[in-house]
Amino acid sequence: MATKKSTTAKSTIKATARRTVAKKVTSIGLDHTQSSELAEKLNDLLANYQIFYMNVRGFHWNIKGEKFFELHLKFEELYNNLVLKIDEVAERILTLGHIPLHGYDDYLATAVVKPTKNVSEGKKAIQAILDAFKVLITKQRVLLDLSDVADDEGTNALMSDYIREQEKLVWMYSSWMGN
Ligand SMILES: [Fe+2]
Repeated sequence: MATKKSTTAKSTIKATARRTVAKKVTSIGLDHTQSSELAEKLNDLLANYQIFYMNVRGFHWNIKGEKFFELHLKFEELYNNLVLKIDEVAERILTLGHIPLHGYDDYLATAVVKPTKNVSEGKKAIQAILDAFKVLITKQRVLLDLSDVADDEGTNALMSDYIREQEKLVWMYSSWMGN
């Protein structure tokens, strides 16, 4: 009799546990807690992208000297690329069930990349770009690992693409610097 009661209690506990697990899964089947952590880190990444984007627009506008035409175009190519990623990261946050940061006050409070103004020299602009890429790539590697653990293939694939693409850009910008 005692054994039967114990078995019934165990079944009840298992059923409760199943219900609890079911509650913690998001609409795309990911763990709620892990999704929140990923969304938070994606928001941090987004903030850094937004400041970096504005910096690169500034470089595009303010660059001077004999490399003007080359760099003016190169920076336009870069900020157009960044704006696509900004949208992808924000929409990934929404897909995970969270709200992307969308105010410059939040971006400034969150980002490690700081506003870089009045840069007219090519080498200074490229160095600032290399510094920002280091921040972004490092943050994306953390997200790559976290999304892997969370089985979040969508975020994982996005981070993997960004890292590969930006590592190559770092090589090219470094070569331009003569490094
Ligand atoms: Fe322009």
